[in-house]
Parts: sequence; structure tokens; C-alpha cells
Amino acid sequence: MEIAPQGDSNLLDKVINLAKRRGFIFPSAEIYGGFRSTYDYGPLGVNMLRNVKQAWWNAMVQRRSDIVGIDAAILGPPAIWAASGHLETFTDPLVDCLKCKERWREDKIDGVCPNCGSTQFTEARAFNLMFKTQAGPVEGEGATAYLRPETAQGMFTNFNNVLAATRKKPPFGVAQIGKSFRNEITPQNFVFRTREFEQMEMEYFVAPADAPEWHKYWIKTRYDWYIDLGIPVEKLRLYEHAKEDLSHYSKGTTDVEFEFPWGFDELEGVANRGDYDLTQHSNASGVKLEYFDQGTNEHYTPYVIEPAAGATRAMMAFLLSAYHEDEIEGEVRTVLRLDWRLAPYQVAVLPLSKKPELESVSKAVLEQLQPYFMCDYDVTQSIGRRYRRQDEVGTPFCVTVDFDSLEDESVTVRDRDTTAQTRVKIKDLLGELRARTGQR
Ligand code: GAP
Repeated sequence: MEIAPQGDSNLLDKVINLAKRRGFIFPSAEIYGGFRSTYDYGPLGVNMLRNVKQAWWNAMVQRRSDIVGIDAAILGPPAIWAASGHLETFTDPLVDCLKCKERWREDKIDGVCPNCGSTQFTEARAFNLMFKTQAGPVEGEGATAYLRPETAQGMFTNFNNVLAATRKKPPFGVAQIGKSFRNEITPQNFVFRTREFEQMEMEYFVAPADAPEWHKYWIKTRYDWYIDLGIPVEKLRLYEHAKEDLSHYSKGTTDVEFEFPWGFDELEGVANRGDYDLTQHSNASGVKLEYFDQGTNEHYTPYVIEPAAGATRAMMAFLLSAYHEDEIEGEVRTVLRLDWRLAPYQVAVLPLSKKPELESVSKAVLEQLQPYFMCDYDVTQSIGRRYRRQDEVGTPFCVTVDFDSLEDESVTVRDRDTTAQTRVKIKDLLGELRARTGQR
């Protein structure tokens, strides 16, 4: 019986608390009082974040013959950001409250200071969100570098390199996962908006006439990806940006939005960037970034359709939608109903007691599963407590080794969601778990 529906007003606090307590996400630099805008991913969180990224890579690169990956540098020279338009236009409107002196992003506060309630502010000024630093020991303009505020530009600047190396032709894509940095005026809502975060972006290069169709295709394909990984349909929606709100590079953007505890908000943007980026970089660098179509004997600048997702923001959405409380045999339990592909551990091996003969069978079972599944091994506390601990972190299967296992060479497989327990021969265990997770 479900007892804490997703409408629970404390959902965000509960997830933040669980994330800290169980080792998903820690506030950074906590022993020094914290550094509000950054987070560290703990032993379970690092597994889950890797799984989110792997699920994206699997869908966007591994299962496609039209998309290749790259991993470009985080540091870049000013020339890239001048050409991309970020130096001039990647700004948010910054205001100071005249009463308490707090700084805010004007478009996020509805004219009232969230700190002191004042309605008196300075004039808004454009605040550039890029982190500027120095590369090398030389002081001065020549050594200025920026931390990338999006992974996208590395895909545009390498357009010719990728074409030459792979012989791809439009429609084709280049995908990248990596850290991006933005000096957000108001980082907030846990890992929703932080100054250091991870993106999963893909630039899909198409013939200009085909761009509208591909734009529709990628909006649907990206929406379906979240559904496939367990986000309920009613928690997702599409939001098409009004023309006047588009980013400087965009001809049209539709966001995939998730219903966060504060309302629907952006999970991913799918933009039609036109030929903006390749043209800008061609003009600024003097190197032509075009495709030669042998069929028509013509050069053209491809249009770009860009699905741009946040890995850390997606992980937060998966955690929020997986969090449930229900009642099992009169006891309240917290359970993360995570898709097995995202769960930090897919299997927990639990010897019923610490007796050496049970531990030795359990270790053999563990070693049989470890090449195929991320496994936890837990011998502490009662078996009931251990099941609850695994439910709370979303482990889909617990494998219990008991004294009968020594006789019948079988173990008990417990399902997280139904709590149903099934006896399975140890020799059949791997096949059984692979079948249950849809793997052959
Ligand atoms: N290349 C296009 C681009 O970067 P964006 O909408 O600014 O587009 C794409 O960012 C995604 O990156 C967002 O939908 C969000 O998931 C994630 N993202 C952006 N800023 C973020 C931040 N400060 N903290 C966490 N995630 C962020």
C-alpha cells in the first residue's frame, strides 16, 4: 500500500536527506562550512550518475550507426567564446536588493527580494556566467581561458576532424558527456542548478531542408528516453519556447520538462541551432566548416539539431520520481523504485549469518555475479533490516544465502518492488537475473 504519494510536500527534503545519509550526494567542502553551489557524488551516487550517463551513451551512441562520440577539452581560448556568442550574450540580469544587499537574478524573483521582502533594487545589469581563468604562468590577455559553459562548442570546433576521421555524412551526430561550468547567480534546489554540473549533449548535423523533421524526431526520441527509464508520463511534458525567449543561437527550442517539487521545470532542451555555430566558427577562424555533397556537387553548411541534457539534473529527476514510501507487513518502508539500469547496485548478496560456511558460499555467489552486475555485499544486522536498507537505495534484487543453501545449492531471490521471494539454484542464478532484467 502506497502511503506517501508523489505529491508529498516534503519530497525534496526527504530525497536530499536520503541522498546524504546513504551516500548518493554530499554537499561539497562540508567540513569547511560548505560551498553552496557544488556537490560531491558519494559511493552510491557515483554508481548512479555513471549509470545515467551510460544509459544516455547506450541510446545515443552505442545503439546508433549515425552518431559518434568525442571528449573535448574543458578549457578553451577566448576566440571560441567570442565566435559562439557566449562572451557577448551568455548573461543573466543581475540586481542588488537595496535593503539587504543580497544579489538576485531579476527574472527569477518577481520583483520581491526572497530574503527580506523589499521591492527596491538596483537597475539590472548583464552578468556573464562564464568562469574566466588564466592558462599558463603568463599574466595578461593572451593567456585568458574560460571553463566551458556547455559541451557543445567542442563538437562544432571538431566538425572537420570528425568528418575526416569517420567519413560520416549528414544526417549524423557527435555526442559528448562532460562537465560544464556556469557562474549561476542563484544556484538552487539541490543539484538542479549548480555552478559545476555535467551535461550530455549531441549535435546532429542535417541538410537545412530536413531540419524541421529531425527537430521533431529528436524531441520525441528524447522524451521517450526518460519514459523508458521509468519517469511516469504524467511527470513529463513538452514546452515550446516563444520566439522572443529563444537563446541567441536558436531557431526553435522545445524543452522536456519534469514536474519537480516546485513545479514543471527544464530537464533538457532540444534546439534547432540552424547553421549559426558552424557559420560563426568558419567566419571567426577562417577555416571552412562545410559538407561537400557529392550527389549535388555542392558545398553547404549543415543545420544542427541539439538535444542538450543535464546528467546531474536528470539523476535528480530519476531520484525524485523513484522515491516512494509504502507499508509492508504493518511497517513503513522507503523504497527507490529505480530502473535496474540506473540503480547504484543491481544485486545485494546477503548471507543469513556470519558463519564461515555461509560466507564462503556467499562470496562464491558474489564472484559469479560481479562481472555482470554491480553488487553490494552486506552481512550486518538482521535480514529484515538489510532488505530495508537495500530497498531504500533502490537495489532491485537481494540474493540471500541461508543454511538450506548448503544442502540444496539454492538461494532466495527477493524482488524489491513486490517483495516476492523465489528459490533459485545457484547454477541458474545468473541466467535468472539476466532474464529478469531483460538481458539474454
Ligand atoms: N548547449 C545548449 C545548452 O547548454 P542549456 O539549456 O543551457 O543548453 C542544457 O543546458 C541542460 O544542461 C539543461 O537542460 C540542464 O539539464 C543542464 N544545465 C544547465 N545549466 C545547469 C546548471 N547550472 N546546473 C545543472 N544543470 C544544468
